[in-house]
Amino acid sequence: MHQDEQKALVAKEAVALMLREISAGEILGIGTGSTVNLFIDALSPYAKHFRGVVSSSEASTARLIEKGFHVFDANEVGNIIAYVDGADEINAQGHMIKGGGGALTREKIVASMAEKFVCICDSSKQVEVLGNFPLPIEVIPLASAHIARTIEQQLGAEVSIRMSKSRPDEKMITDNGGWILDVRGLKIHHPKELEIELNQIPGVICNGIFARNAANVLIVSSQEGVRTIQY
Ligand code: A5P
Repeated sequence: MHQDEQKALVAKEAVALMLREISAGEILGIGTGSTVNLFIDALSPYAKHFRGVVSSSEASTARLIEKGFHVFDANEVGNIIAYVDGADEINAQGHMIKGGGGALTREKIVASMAEKFVCICDSSKQVEVLGNFPLPIEVIPLASAHIARTIEQQLGAEVSIRMSKSRPDEKMITDNGGWILDVRGLKIHHPKELEIELNQIPGVICNGIFARNAANVLIVSSQEGVRTIQY
């Protein structure tokens, strides 16, 4: 089965889970990425089942509005019943690396507001130890060189500034006006500790380790089909 078909399967399974477990009139949190795009599309016939959604990126917001969802600003809502998002890597404890699309900061904010994190991905994202996927860190631009040096010295890792896909000679600018540093060469054996440590470097806006906001549920697909794992 092709990876896109596997992503479509988890998206469909996540829609079934939402309709089964979430009462009408609740607010959902929505992540960012290609798997979430399929989830948004599959959920769109039921857009009015929910009071609305809180989105984690401008890209998801545009798609949600186009598909008929009411999108709330995060400041307008008190409680989000569940947050659905993909991952770049996930380990057996539900700790993740996220931010491959650069939306990690808003993703972490919305995830932290939600009662439950439902991760949807194909089995290529499951790893024993996080770190093979470059760890994204969103930073204040003027602090980027200092942060890169600090991480290289402290962690012995290789750091690069992410460039824009559409304009390769320019830095990628996030929805928040930040830059993204991609950190290669890590083996993250203690995700919770490293998540906290990275946040201590002045100028770091957010890092892509989601250990304190780990997944509570994983819907994962492989050649064998779809499985749902509760953490
Ligand atoms: C976006 O910033 C990321 O955190 C995505 O959730 C993650 O990269 C997964 O994306 P895909 O579903 O496209 O693999």
